[in-house]
Amino acid sequence: MNEIPNLPTPDRVILVVEDSSQIRSVISKALELEGYATKQAKNGVEGLELLKESPPDLILSDVNMPQMDGIEFFKAVRQNPDWTAIPFIFLTSHSNSEDIQRGREMGVEDYLTKPIEPEDLVRIINARLYRTAAVEVAQVGQAYLDTVMVLANAIEGRDKYTRGHVERVTAYALWLAKALKWPAQHLRVLEFGARLHDIGKIIIPGHILNKPEPLSDDEWALMKKHTVAGAKMLQEIPHLRGTLPYILYHHEKWDGSGYPKGLKAKEIPIQGRILALADVYDAISTARPYHKATPHEAVIKIISEEAGRHFDPQLVPIFIKIMNAKRAQVAG
Ligand SMILES: [Fe+2]
Repeated sequence: MNEIPNLPTPDRVILVVEDSSQIRSVISKALELEGYATKQAKNGVEGLELLKESPPDLILSDVNMPQMDGIEFFKAVRQNPDWTAIPFIFLTSHSNSEDIQRGREMGVEDYLTKPIEPEDLVRIINARLYRTAAVEVAQVGQAYLDTVMVLANAIEGRDKYTRGHVERVTAYALWLAKALKWPAQHLRVLEFGARLHDIGKIIIPGHILNKPEPLSDDEWALMKKHTVAGAKMLQEIPHLRGTLPYILYHHEKWDGSGYPKGLKAKEIPIQGRILALADVYDAISTARPYHKATPHEAVIKIISEEAGRHFDPQLVPIFIKIMNAKRAQVAG
């Protein structure tokens, strides 16, 4: 059997800036043992030269050095927009509170005091890189969501009759899920799922979306594809995977007569059953190309008659109670 060598992973590079060659080499050796690659500089000037070659994943810098000290080096690093996000750790002599104070004023978060044990050094650098990676993941996730929200809003803007629909459906679905005591993380996914539920309507031409007359059979068939089309659009985005049941199943019906799959009763994921109630309440209670707005009491009557046909019969009374209570709040 071939032995697989335990090679260091060269993708994490630490820049070590330190005037003492002895300390520099001890630190570098400890990091290399842990699988990091290192670059070494004996002062800020050399450090900047190495940064220009390729930015490292983290900078570890002494404070007191000849030519360009750590403070000047830190300022120069942060002035370059390409380098502002690189984690920066100061290495300072034992209990030199003046250095720490100067660094704090400039926003340096982390300090290591010399002499430092190699294990502590590695532990702190690992933790710092882990934290940086976690923040990056969160930021990328937020950027995905922001982008998709812009897209969802653009779609709503195309459909002149449903302006405000997404906002209201999201609010109604959230009220219902809160009444069911859903935990916060599920409510957050619900919020995105509700906002994005009709995103697949991007495939529907504007003249069909805004048609005042009843749709032809072909147009109807196309309209029904918006659930699957929306799920296909978002399925490759890991951060939005939780929204797929909302997008796919909000037109399923309890009695099995809905689409796209014709699922029945509890085969329909709860996300779809909740959103169906919110979506239909809003569709009937507001004016559409093919019907006028229906008053609240009449909508409630329709929804209660549809319990066990269109809607989950257990959810209907809870939904009606909430909608009546919210209605009374507004009226009161
Ligand atoms: Fe829909």
